[in-house]
Amino acid sequence: MGQKIRAKITGLGLYVPPRVVTNDEIAKLVDTNNEWIVERTGIHTRHWADKGTATSELAVKAVEDLLRKRGIDGSEIELIIVSTVTPDMFFPSTACLIQDRIGAKNAWGYDILAACSSFLYSLTTGAQFIESGRHKKVLIVGADVMTSIVNPEDRTTIILFGDGAGAVLLEPTEEGEEDYGILDFRHEVDGSGAAYLNMPAGGSLHPPSHETIDGKMHYIHQSGQHVFKFAVRKMEELSTGMLAKHNLTGDDLGCFIAHQANLRIIDATANKIGIADDKVIRNIHKYGNTTAATIPLAIGDAIESGRLKKGDLVLFAAVGAGFTSGSVLARWAY
Ligand code: UT7
Repeated sequence: MGQKIRAKITGLGLYVPPRVVTNDEIAKLVDTNNEWIVERTGIHTRHWADKGTATSELAVKAVEDLLRKRGIDGSEIELIIVSTVTPDMFFPSTACLIQDRIGAKNAWGYDILAACSSFLYSLTTGAQFIESGRHKKVLIVGADVMTSIVNPEDRTTIILFGDGAGAVLLEPTEEGEEDYGILDFRHEVDGSGAAYLNMPAGGSLHPPSHETIDGKMHYIHQSGQHVFKFAVRKMEELSTGMLAKHNLTGDDLGCFIAHQANLRIIDATANKIGIADDKVIRNIHKYGNTTAATIPLAIGDAIESGRLKKGDLVLFAAVGAGFTSGSVLARWAY
């Protein structure tokens, strides 16, 4: 029997819009202050796209960065999976728009909506096509223009979110790479959490109307404390569960890359899995919560700071609206 083919990440591309917004700038828009934001969230700055910027614009820049670094052409991509809660429009999917812009004329594709867990959902979904032998180059994109759905008058959410995009390429492991690539995953949904984090209008339940606009129903609505408590509990449970399943401890990991929603959630989970502090990737201070882009942006920081190297075991974890959640164990392959 030949070795099992796994999906390994072989390339990364990133893009954040150039405009950096400080907490002090936000304090001019709503009743808040730098100390509160830093203490409760760990966020110092975030990047905001210019008004009217579409998610596909950020995504295409990230994908172009990836294609350039990996030295391949868009026509080599076979499947595009896009994670986003801020698609350019309801349909066609943002995957279709990206496919056209990057000249991926041999690809099919679709969007996955799992909010802050989308990137991990997309990663593991894409991995199935590699493991089955069906595809050899799968593009996973995480991109969001969160500022397009944040209520500029809501101090509880405007402080949290930023805009950004990231993309990774999945390819099959090769001879001698048995234990490389995506080794395991676990995803969950708890739909009873839907009421605590959502954008209520614009869909079939509340189609756009003057009432939905006046009621500010096209913005993010979040019950922060409820989401916070669930996120801490679920991220800890999935992360420790994944390590236990593989007889690993925090010491075995090269690094821990969690969705960046709140520094306190990341720190609580890191503490629970007992991992050395310098192995915990944190970049929420500079990007805020970019929803589907947090994990690729964090991979970028991990590589750049020399904390993610070939052969390292890496644990990913995320919790998001739905509630959706997931953990992924991988051995880094480049
Ligand atoms: O990525 C998707 C998943 N999302 C998350 O994981 C987000 C999870 N939730 C959170 O990160 C936190 O709940 C928040 C950062 C959103 C809020 O932090 P908190 O420590 O849970 O604050 P809180 O909602 O309990 O509010 C505490 C106080 C309240 O005042 P009172 O009632 O104690 O007088 C709020 O009105 O802080 C007030 N407050 C603010 N004060 C200054 C809320 N937002 C602000 C603000 N500036 N921006």
